[in-house]
Amino acid sequence: MVYQRVLRRALFRMGGGDAEVAHERTLRVTTRLGALPPVVAGLNRYFGGGTPRTVFGVRFPGPVGLAAGMDKDGRALRAWPAFGFGFVEVGTVTRYAQPGNPRPRLHRLPASEAVINRMGFNNGGAAALAARLRALGPLRVPLGVSIGKSKVTPVEEAVDDYRASLDVLAPHADYFAVNVSSPNTPGLRGLQDKAALDELLGALETTVPLLVKIAPDLSEHAMADVLEVCAAHGIAGLIATNTTLSRDGIAPQDAERATETGGLSGRPLTARALQVVTFVAKESNLPVIGVGGIHTADDALRMLDAGASLVQVYTGLIYRGPGLVRAINRAAR
Ligand SMILES: Cc1cc2nc3c(=O)[nH]c(=O)nc-3n(C[C@H](O)[C@H](O)[C@H](O)COP(=O)(O)O)c2cc1C
Repeated sequence: MVYQRVLRRALFRMGGGDAEVAHERTLRVTTRLGALPPVVAGLNRYFGGGTPRTVFGVRFPGPVGLAAGMDKDGRALRAWPAFGFGFVEVGTVTRYAQPGNPRPRLHRLPASEAVINRMGFNNGGAAALAARLRALGPLRVPLGVSIGKSKVTPVEEAVDDYRASLDVLAPHADYFAVNVSSPNTPGLRGLQDKAALDELLGALETTVPLLVKIAPDLSEHAMADVLEVCAAHGIAGLIATNTTLSRDGIAPQDAERATETGGLSGRPLTARALQVVTFVAKESNLPVIGVGGIHTADDALRMLDAGASLVQVYTGLIYRGPGLVRAINRAAR
């Protein structure tokens, strides 16, 4: 409540309403908090307390993770566990550092509790992330690393690009998320097609568990294909879902903003993400990380009931604040 009445209001006004300015400042403050051990201990007492579970051979101290994209370069890794996160997924990183798309590229749709982003994998590159993680040393929670294709790399050479990121980051990752579902890198979602995915997964050899993150815009037939290829390559799990290209469920007040290009996340995605999690959990034996439109503890419980082993949040954090993580930790005991 304090978050929504005070902090959120301030954040939404920051930078003349530029959502990316609010994002950068939040990340900077969060990073600083993570460097203060007494603050970390205090936060941890308030937000922590999730029930541990072991999924694809990795022990998670709690079921709620930070979804990919919030801390792409792993800047605030000391702080996230203090806010109750049982794991953190950094990235998506690419083989080569890249600036992403021109700004503005992040838009809030407040009446819909949604966000549209076309960041385009702005990140410092896989080698820089590896160096930061090496300097940081071990973390208190498992670390997922999301990898994607560099913009300069043609889709036909995507396999080498993913492999280069995988090799440099393998010593630091508890799992990899193979991102083939971002809508903001031309051609990337085509890697979810059966033959392309088969080639990609066949080339990614590692002892670290590999998960595949899928889009919510796939048909059941396409999802079944993905599951078949994943099973054939011994994939450890699925992450469902990424942002959607659909504009269903937008409040009339946000109609103009909804015309922005990019992937939609948040409230309008809740029902579809749950549907996808239900389908993939039922049709495969693979563990699933459920993500998409989780804004309340009940949303998270529905994902877990639908067969997810873990959940992740991003947009819910923007609209509901870190109290969301606490609420889920308490509800999912
Ligand atoms: C600004 C922004 C950036 C994102 N960047 C990434 C990314 O780099 N890689 C990725 O796999 N997903 C990325 N996502 C998708 C989220 O990880 C998540 O799958 C999606 O937003 C649905 O969850 P939510 O409704 O809780 O936000 C991003 C989402 C947002 C809002």
